Formats: sequence, structure tokens, C-alpha cells
Amino acid sequence: VPVKIYSDDTSASIEVARRVAGLIKSKQANNETAVLGLATGASPVKVYKELVRLHKEEGLSFKNVVTFNLDEYYPIQPDAEQSYVRFMKEQLFDHVDIDISNVNIPDGTLKQEDIAAYCLAYEQKINNYGGIDLQVLGIGRTGHIGFNEPGSAPNSGTRLVTLNDLTRRDASKDFGGKENVPKKAITMGIGTIFKAKEIILLAWNGKKAPIIKKAVEGPISNEVPATFLQMSNNVEFIIDEDAAVELT
Ligand code: F6R
Repeated sequence: VPVKIYSDDTSASIEVARRVAGLIKSKQANNETAVLGLATGASPVKVYKELVRLHKEEGLSFKNVVTFNLDEYYPIQPDAEQSYVRFMKEQLFDHVDIDISNVNIPDGTLKQEDIAAYCLAYEQKINNYGGIDLQVLGIGRTGHIGFNEPGSAPNSGTRLVTLNDLTRRDASKDFGGKENVPKKAITMGIGTIFKAKEIILLAWNGKKAPIIKKAVEGPISNEVPATFLQMSNNVEFIIDEDAAVELT
């Protein structure tokens, strides 16, 4: 896996935002749609901040952008403080000129019996746009990408999953206690992520160093779902020095 190490997350995030903006503009020049796969959590926050700046100060338009977010807690209301709908609005969508009908985030309010059909339709919608041009990923300490926890199959699609205990512990601060963290989530699959034409995984700080070592150098195994990315030719890890300390 190609790994690019930056001295800090700010400079790295600015570079990633520049690449996203470059994709959007080259699509614009051809009257085409840019299809972005987006992540939530701490890792992409500065990328979104820079994209907002590029919109406000340098005229970057999101009119031709369609987005698919990786995941959402289940169940959750979109206006809940911890929902990924709310996160994406606050970090990005409320501050740029994207057409909100071009935004896709898994629905945390579905009835259980409607989830399977919804997930198939989510996959289909991505395919109908010709697939994701650029997928932004974070990585969880369990090795999850999206919410594909250990045990996920490499060909998995969008589906309802059970969150790992460590993932729920890491989210407990946001929810005021682990007991309040939803036990499930809807996530794009490893197979869905793999179909993206380009994948960028972000990881910052020393807390991610052990899982970055496993993801980059460890044996490919569903025990660490991010190791499946070693089989992709279109993936790049963009990390800071602290996340890179355990790499040989
Ligand atoms: C979020 C997602 C997760 C996070 C991961 C890292 O949409 O899919 O895989 O990217 O849990 O989270 P942070 O960036 O908060 O460390």
C-alpha cells in the first residue's frame, strides 16, 4: 500500500482537499458529475474545513457533486447530536453550494424490515452514477473501514452491522456513555468501497499507530478489515508522522 507521511494533519488535509477540489473541477470542465464517498469522525474534519474555505474564498462550486457517506448509526434520528447527517451538515454541506438532494447518507430511521431493500438501493444508486470517483476513509482502532468491523467479508455490500465493543467505547464520549451508543450501524461494504476509482485513507496521531502498522504491514485477514486495502491498486494512505511511528 502506498503510504504518504506528512509532518502534521493540517498540511496533509489541505493536500487531500486540493485533490478533491481538482477532481470536482476537472469533472466540471467536462460537464460531468463528481461522485464523492465521504467519511465522518475526527479524521476528515480538516479536509472539510479546507473545502469550505476553497468554496468561500476561491469559488469552488459543489453544484456538480454527488456524495455517498459510508455509514450511519442505527437506529438514530437525523437531528440527533451524534448522527452523521448532522455531522456532515455542520462540517460541510451547510457551508457549500451542494444541492442537498445530491447528498446520500444511510438512513438511521428505517424500520428493521426495510433495511435490506434500502441497502440494495443504496448500492444501485452508486452504480447508476457510474461508481464513486474518490472515496475518503478513516480507520477505527479495530481496523474497521466504514463500519466494517473484524469478520467482514471482502465482497460485502451495504448492510446492517453490529458495532464492535471497542468502537462503541471509542464513541462513548460523544454519546455520554457507552450504554447510549447504538449497537448497530448501516455501512457500505468492503466490496462497495473497493469499487471506488480512487481511495484515500486518513489517519492522524499516535493512537492510530498500532492499527496503521497492522493495516499496512500485517497479513491480509478479515480480523483487520483495512488489510483488504492491500489488494487494491487504487488506494493511498495519507497519515501523519505520529500515526507512522510503528511502520518499518
Ligand atoms: C466514519 C467511519 C469510521 C471512522 C473511523 C475513524 O464515517 O466510517 O470508519 O472513519 O472510526 O474515526 P475517527 O476519524 O474519529 O478516528
